[in-house]
Order: sequence, then structure tokens, then C-alpha cells
Amino acid sequence: MILRLLPKYVVNRIAAGEVVERPAAAVKELVENGIDAGARRIDVVVIDGGRGLISVVDDGRGMTAEELNLACERHATSKLPDDDLIRISSLGFRGEALPSIGAVSRLEITSRAKDADGAWSIRVEGGDKQAPAPAALGGGTRVEVRDLFYATPARLKFLKTARTEQNRCLEVMRRLAMAYPAIGFSLSDGSRKLLKLAPSPGELFVARLDRLAEIIGREFADNSSAIDAEREGMRLTGYAGLPTLNRGNGAMQFLFVNGRPISDRLLIGALRSAYREFLASDRYPLVALFLTLPPEMVDVNVHPAKTEVRFRDSGLVRGLIVGALKHALTKAG
Ligand SMILES: Nc1ncnc2c1ncn2[C@@H]1O[C@H](COP(=O)(O)OP(=O)(O)OP(=O)(O)O)[C@@H](O)[C@H]1O
Ligand SMILES: [Mg+2]
Repeated sequence: MILRLLPKYVVNRIAAGEVVERPAAAVKELVENGIDAGARRIDVVVIDGGRGLISVVDDGRGMTAEELNLACERHATSKLPDDDLIRISSLGFRGEALPSIGAVSRLEITSRAKDADGAWSIRVEGGDKQAPAPAALGGGTRVEVRDLFYATPARLKFLKTARTEQNRCLEVMRRLAMAYPAIGFSLSDGSRKLLKLAPSPGELFVARLDRLAEIIGREFADNSSAIDAEREGMRLTGYAGLPTLNRGNGAMQFLFVNGRPISDRLLIGALRSAYREFLASDRYPLVALFLTLPPEMVDVNVHPAKTEVRFRDSGLVRGLIVGALKHALTKAG
């Protein structure tokens, strides 16, 4: 047998397979980077379902030439200042997204750091990184991903139609946009705007309800109860749809943990039991709920796509959700 360490570009392509499963995953990573960078606007273009081009432009803090260079290396991150995986307060923390995308596409990042004299641009093609070069950009960061998965033809074959992949990108953005009403978001397919959300500054509950009305629909905003409950350092806020507003599946249940869209069995189970007395068992309520808790009470480092979490005390989380929703539904009913 020949036991050997794999070359770096192969290692990166393997890692990329977990981090960027499809175009929507790349969109998610890049939009999250914009959010972490303190952007007020994030504009996305997705052409040919993301296979042709994914472009994400933000007006966040930007990067210097040195930072650009490092950002494309694996395990380089500015988000774990003290190596502490217990207290993650940003959406990113692994330093995997950009190098992964760069390993399987033609990636170009142009960025201008706040207060910097000029902008810089860097290219990575199939994992091959070039040196940063001077470029033109007013501020913030522009990331362009071309020919996603050209370097991994097997993955390319698994992609669905451009329309399906585009819809997944839209879904990812809608979910993130629900959690960040103060940020303006847009998504276009190159000719048509698929999503256009103005930033809503101001009080979070008001801004959030406006944003939810835009994304889920006015009907939801008009037929839901505001939730605001606290227990032992955890806080549950958001809106729970009245039982009369229901669906045949759970597609309209939007759950967030510390600003992160999550699909989690524990949370779904808690919803189910909260609505049990109010809704037939084959009907699903509409909800948008935001759980915030001290980072050390939840582990987000569970799944490569960061869509699952583990709670230190799941009974406490469940109790908070069931209690708060039952209370609100009883009051409304
Ligand atoms: N849009 C952006 N604006 C400013 N800095 C950015 C932006 N995108 C990336 N960076 C910088 O590049 C680094 C690497 O980004 P990358 O997405 O690869 O990793 P991460 O966000 O730290 O962690 P994760 O892999 O979990 O996303 C970030 O830590 C950040 O410092
Ligand atoms: Mg990131």
C-alpha cells in the first residue's frame, strides 16, 4: 500500500465538497460573509442557476491586500480571535468558505478596506491562487464566482435545472434576510430582480415584522402573535401564526438560532407540541422564531453547512418554546 498525504489542491476539493454542495451553499457563505463584515446592503446576481456566475457585492468593512491573500487560504479567519470554539458570535468561524469555493471555481474577490487608499483584487482558479493586484472599487467587497464546479465534474452532474438551483439561492437569501431586517438585500438573475428588500432601520420588532410581511406575506403579519419570552439567559422572539393560518407541510416554519437559519428536529418537535391543542396533526403552522442564547449554550460546529446545532440543555430550549407559544396562542384564541 502507498500511504501518502494528499496534495493541497485535492484536500481543498474534498473539503469544498462538504462546504459548497451546490450554488445556494456558495450564495449562503458569501452573503454570510457580507453580514459578518457589517454590511448595510448585499446585492447578489446569480446567472444560469449559479453555474455561470454568482456575484455578491457588499458595503461592509472590506479587506486589505494582505487580508485578501490570507482570506483565500484554508483555516484563515478573523472570526475566532481567541481560538475559542465555545463562544462563536459570527456566522463564519472556520475559515473554509472562500478557499473551498476557490478550489472548485474561478473566484475573483475585489475589496477595499475602510480608510484604505485603494482596492485590491485576487483570483483563485481551481485552487490556484494568484497574488493580489491593484483594482478599482469604491468600498466594500465584490466576490465573483464563475464556472462553479468546473474543477469537480462529478458535482456538476448532480446539479438540478438552472431554475431549481436559482430557487434554492432565493430561498437561502430569503431566510437570511428574515434574520437581518436592518440590511438591504437584492437578488437578480442578470435581467430580473427576484428579491428586493430595502433596509429597515429602527426598532427590531417593527423592522422584523415589516421584513417578514415582505417575505412570507402580509397575511402572516396580520395573523400572527408576537412572541417575546425569556428563560435563564435565553430569549425567544418573533411571530407565531394563528392556528387558522396553516399549511399542509412545514415549509413555512422559519427557525433561527443566534441569527442563523436552522433546521432542527428538537425545535420542530417543540413547535408541534405547542400547537397540538390548536391544530389538526396533519396541519402545520406558519412561524418565524428567533432564539438567542449565550454562545456557550449552543454548539454550531456540528454540520459542515452549519444548519444544525446542539443545545447544551435541550429541555430548557424546548420548555421555553412550548411555554411561550402556548401562552401566546391561548391569549390569541
Ligand atoms: N465580504 C467580506 N468582507 C470583509 N471580509 C471578508 C469578507 N469575506 C471574507 N472576509 C474575510 O475573509 C475571511 C475568510 O472568509 P471565509 O468565509 O473563508 O471564512 P470565515 O467566514 O472566517 O469562516 P467560514 O468558513 O465559517 O465561513 C473572513 O474571516 C474575513 O476576515
Ligand atoms: Mg465565511
